[in-house]
Amino acid sequence: MCGIIGYTGKKQALPFLQRGLKKLEYRGYDSVGVAVQDIGVTIVKRQGRIEDLIPFTGGLVGFCGIGHTRWATHGKPSERNAHPHRAGKYALVHNGILENYRELKEELSRLGVSFESETDSEVIAALFSVYGEHGLLAAAKEVLPKLKGSYAIAVISEEEKGKIFVSANGSPLVVGKSEHGYFLSSDLPALACFAPFFAALSDGESALLCEGGVAFFNGSLEKTEKEFVRHGLLPQETEKKGFSSFMEKEIFEIPFAVQRTIDRMERIPLPFEESVRGADRLIFTACGTAYHSCLVAKWLAENILRIPCECVLASEFRYNRPLLTAKTVVFAVSQSGETADTLACAKMVKETGGTLIGVTNVAESSLSRITEYCLVTVAGVEIGVAATKSYLSQLSCFYALFYRLGNRGLFACKQIPFYENKALFSYEEELNRLAKRCQEAKSVFFIGRGLDYAVAVEAALKMKEITYRFAEGYAAGELKHGTLALIDEDSVVIALVTQSPLAEKMENAVAQVSSRGAKVALLSDDDKYTSREFCEKYAIESALLLPKGEEFSPLVAIIPIQRLVLKVANLLSLDPDKPRNLAKSVTVE
Ligand code: G6P
Repeated sequence: MCGIIGYTGKKQALPFLQRGLKKLEYRGYDSVGVAVQDIGVTIVKRQGRIEDLIPFTGGLVGFCGIGHTRWATHGKPSERNAHPHRAGKYALVHNGILENYRELKEELSRLGVSFESETDSEVIAALFSVYGEHGLLAAAKEVLPKLKGSYAIAVISEEEKGKIFVSANGSPLVVGKSEHGYFLSSDLPALACFAPFFAALSDGESALLCEGGVAFFNGSLEKTEKEFVRHGLLPQETEKKGFSSFMEKEIFEIPFAVQRTIDRMERIPLPFEESVRGADRLIFTACGTAYHSCLVAKWLAENILRIPCECVLASEFRYNRPLLTAKTVVFAVSQSGETADTLACAKMVKETGGTLIGVTNVAESSLSRITEYCLVTVAGVEIGVAATKSYLSQLSCFYALFYRLGNRGLFACKQIPFYENKALFSYEEELNRLAKRCQEAKSVFFIGRGLDYAVAVEAALKMKEITYRFAEGYAAGELKHGTLALIDEDSVVIALVTQSPLAEKMENAVAQVSSRGAKVALLSDDDKYTSREFCEKYAIESALLLPKGEEFSPLVAIIPIQRLVLKVANLLSLDPDKPRNLAKSVTVE
């Protein structure tokens, strides 16, 4: 959700800003801008993507600069609302939401300050200008205590050569170090290819970057020590490597992500083991796709450990006044580890009691920093906005965890990547045919029961995000309580049939939708349901025989669906990596 990049050092800043912004585009992409310091500070910004900005940046020279790619919250996407914002001698970029910006804006207006944009961010720039007579640090001492809400900011001044002031509170910011200068970014992968060392700011911390060094400050802006550590990210991880999109590349990386995550889960100690075994309840909380991995986790934990479990959307959980006891264990799950609602839940659990366990794909994320116990999945960097390999790595993390806690051993889990490989390289014709159907359809329904239902809701989310088709994941047993009213010849229904105790009940559901004229497709690991005879009986147009899965089916069945969704996006000429109105990491509420 918005991306920040910055550089100060011995080299020209613009090429770093441009490359960094390109890598940050998945965080937001409705407008983009840079500010480069030379004799003064020159700002260039545009509505649109980085490609739309580059032709206008030709004359920007200077060794210090900041850049921003925006996902609009306050004020529509436009050049005026794009960052950086200038106020007097200062230029500022901001991620996050300033909750008291109206009050501050009124105060500043009374002092005669005028505003060009509708953003909350410009208010912070204006504050720097009003309190900025004695420079960046002195201004920050006045400005920061006035800000309520979440922010990561980077500010430069016309008068302080080579200096960038940065501060973070509730929104991530990392400082990077290389032999030729210092970098800053809202996310590590964007600066990983420039700087081998990084230091992440904790909430309330600030830093002043100069060409030859950096000073860190605590919440009271007193100097503090912070170490740079080497990160393990390889620059190639953020390249497409010949695939047509990041989403496609990341789908094909699934078996590796799963294998690495299971290997890691096999090795690590589980210091919270007794807390989980003795828990009165396990609660899983997350947003989006991560929430859907929680649905599978709940099923697994209940079936293997026989402990009552609950899944709660993080945006609900944080306001629900939940009843937590000292024996409750809460799993906060977030690929990025930066999702505002999930972090808020984690903080709430820390304050109210219970055991908190984070699950994230980013070892340096805010979630891993605030949780005492954190399980790190090993999917590698995920750039596509819609989660694919990170979902599978969350699932494999839960399978390995609950299999270990249930003393089942991980042998069966370790076979999964082979099945996944098969799912990646099969079904090409069937998927092409089905993609055409989905392209033409008014709506696409995914139906299933048990674990298949958990997969169905994730499948529908992928279809919505990437193809903008109306899609719904439905518990097949509920069809006749409402959704059946929507089924007609313009609907595609994709039935998941991998849970043998429920398979016959799924047959009823398939019969119901088929007789209403829907175009029906079916995924099953039982050849009875993919046989010609069965397909003819219910006019099933595409039937995909999955490797035998049962309990593991969520780790396999979603793969052909992710591939399907990608194919539909291609047919519709949509960019699967940057779905409209969405952002990879939702760091604001
Ligand atoms: C956004 C992304 C989704 C993701 C969700 C949760 O909405 O577009 O793909 O599932 O955030 O993100 P998290 O990083 O917390 O897993």
